[in-house]
Amino acid sequence: MLVDKVHDVDCVIPVHLYGQCVDISKLLHLNIPIIEDCAQAHGANVNGQHVGTRGTIGCFSFYPGKNLGALGDAGACITNDECLSIKMKQYASLGSPKNDRYAHISDGINSRMDGIQGLLLCEKLKHLNEWTEDRIRVGEIYRSGSDFPKRSSVGKDVYHVFYTLQGDRDEYIKFMNNNGVQRVFITPQPYQTWNVSKSFTPIVKMRDYFVNHVLVCQCFHT
Ligand SMILES: Cc1ncc(COP(=O)(O)O)c(C=O)c1O
Repeated sequence: MLVDKVHDVDCVIPVHLYGQCVDISKLLHLNIPIIEDCAQAHGANVNGQHVGTRGTIGCFSFYPGKNLGALGDAGACITNDECLSIKMKQYASLGSPKNDRYAHISDGINSRMDGIQGLLLCEKLKHLNEWTEDRIRVGEIYRSGSDFPKRSSVGKDVYHVFYTLQGDRDEYIKFMNNNGVQRVFITPQPYQTWNVSKSFTPIVKMRDYFVNHVLVCQCFHT
């Protein structure tokens, strides 16, 4: 594993991308902080242990299009470390400690979630399992027609979107559209091609192939 060979690593950020659980058991022995990016993986778990609960911090996005989405931007970080939890709340609240909003004792940003978003999310949370199963059902239908790339399946994966590589992308989109699936799209400007990322993007083998053949299909719950 790459991280075994790297020294001076401050932290690792595994991304449970597209709802696939990263096998973080391989990282736990490194004894460095692990920040799990669960933005696309609400409800995914390994042997019942939910993503975001094994690392030092788990981060969830509640952006409206996410599996659990608010009405506007929102998100949450979870941790079992009480000291970190205090620091995170303080950071999200302009560096103000609990019970003293006029003091600013550390760096901070204004990132408090609106109460109305919290209320909506609490209501939607009641349906998350059911919606997740719907997404899995839709994702598996896509997968039955295109099992590439393979899913890792170290645990119970969920689906945020179905991502695939297709030799003839236009043909695939046309086929899906003709069969009632409208929401198939490509990333018009992939990350690797952005000016801002050019200086730190490693040269990925087959990068151009990925850029030209990747396709994303939505897995909305019904
Ligand atoms: C994998 C992943 N990480 C992080 C983010 C960022 O989430 P947010 O926009 O809520 O900050 C997203 C959102 O698109 C995402 O898909």
